[in-house]
Amino acid sequence: MRVDVITIFPEYLSPLDLSLVGRARARGILDVHLHDLRQWASDVHRTVDDAPYGGGPGMVMRPEPWWAALTEIGGAGGPDPAMGRRPRIIVPTPVGRPFTQAYAARLADEPWLVFCCGRYEGIDTRVIEEWADDEISIGDYVLAGGEVATLVMLEAVTRLLPGVVGNAESVVDDSFASGLLEAPVYTRPPVWQGHEVPAVLRSGDHGAIGRWRRDTALLRTAHRRPDLLEAVDLTEHDRAICAEHGMGDHGTAGGADPNGRVAQ
Ligand code: ADE
Repeated sequence: MRVDVITIFPEYLSPLDLSLVGRARARGILDVHLHDLRQWASDVHRTVDDAPYGGGPGMVMRPEPWWAALTEIGGAGGPDPAMGRRPRIIVPTPVGRPFTQAYAARLADEPWLVFCCGRYEGIDTRVIEEWADDEISIGDYVLAGGEVATLVMLEAVTRLLPGVVGNAESVVDDSFASGLLEAPVYTRPPVWQGHEVPAVLRSGDHGAIGRWRRDTALLRTAHRRPDLLEAVDLTEHDRAICAEHGMGDHGTAGGADPNGRVAQ
């Protein structure tokens, strides 16, 4: 997958050199190109912002540098004719649609993504109307710009690229992949500071372990994120487990946070 990031702070993206994303780049699975937007600014001061029409606080990013950057990088005759098509252009913004695991999976199927990192009060809306395929928010809070949101999205997408995560099953079991939060996890020692690892996980009975994980994931989700259950097809067994633990299966959570403390 090719990814271009346009920003006025290319150094902000330096975590892309590290860890899982860094390794995916080193192995040629992910081909990242960082661009400084100011190289497309035309005045001597390399200005990329201006006061908002209609007044109000802050500054707005001017359209011309974005237009020039996107035409050169992603327009017809972009830098890589071998790509043979336009990239998918994403603008991180607090007014966008929520970023989800399902959307990350859709992006992981694309050959080429461009992230446009706005700063200040955002990018002139005409650029977004003309170029953006998606405006995406990573949560209901306001960051100083799109760079951190781009890092978040790129990490979520890179994990899903074939060959990046060694054990492909660990991606399938992820929280959100099934619509449920993942069950709690433990490693050695079996007893630590008086807290014991649930016996079922040490039983070697893989059927029982699978059922325990499903039940615990369900109760955790009912307790912490009842909103997620609306989209899950619950079985009779699931409903019975919720009822047994005093939780409605559609949002009325009661009882203690079920961190692995499911009756066995
Ligand atoms: N830019 C500023 N805040 C943001 C957010 N919550 N999500 C995506 N991009 C942003």
